[in-house]
Amino acid sequence: MPLFITFEGGEGSGKSTQSKLLHQRLVKLAIPAVLTCEPGGTLFGKKLGHWLKWGDTRKITPITELLLFNAARAQSVAEIIIPGLKEGKTVISDRYDDSTTVYQGYGRGLDLEMVTCINRAATQGLKPELTVLLDVPVSDGLKRKRSEKPDRFEQEELAFHRRVMEGYLKLAQSEPERWLVIDGTQSKEKIAELIWPRVSQLLSKGPK
Ligand code: TMP
Repeated sequence: MPLFITFEGGEGSGKSTQSKLLHQRLVKLAIPAVLTCEPGGTLFGKKLGHWLKWGDTRKITPITELLLFNAARAQSVAEIIIPGLKEGKTVISDRYDDSTTVYQGYGRGLDLEMVTCINRAATQGLKPELTVLLDVPVSDGLKRKRSEKPDRFEQEELAFHRRVMEGYLKLAQSEPERWLVIDGTQSKEKIAELIWPRVSQLLSKGPK
């Protein structure tokens, strides 16, 4: 099957910009590619995502978040990711199950084994060949978003976002062959140039 690539990072890390740039590059090179995002890649996910981001903070428990992000993911895997890969396309997802591990696991403090187990059910065990982590200091990322209306996650205290970032770095350290960690404070052009060699190497090799 062709490549599955995910982008991860905290708030305002620039992962949506980079996933779009990579998708555009592949399309220009006539490499069939699909770009999706979580939680809003399907209509179902978009509705859940809106509720998760803008719903009443007090009423949404961490477990509810865990299940709803994974409900959106299960739909995205079945509707977009697996069909895309089966059609021979490279699939790029802006966020995937690592987001749940760090936000609901490290950030909200849910048991990591339980999070992994529920993530696995939603992903059907499908793992990306490459995950790009855009590492931006938490306060810088939040500042980038400050002009917009903050959602439930952006309103969280700094300590929450620090736990999320620490979680990402731990995951990246534990699986260095899958993760590419990039200093996200650089220009978007420079970041895209740092990502491309790894993608092009994987494309020429094909997935494991
Ligand atoms: P985004 O569209 O800005 O990436 O917003 C998605 C928000 O939802 C972001 O704050 C991270 C959060 N999130 C989780 O907490 N868990 C998840 O599994 C996913 C996909 C996102």
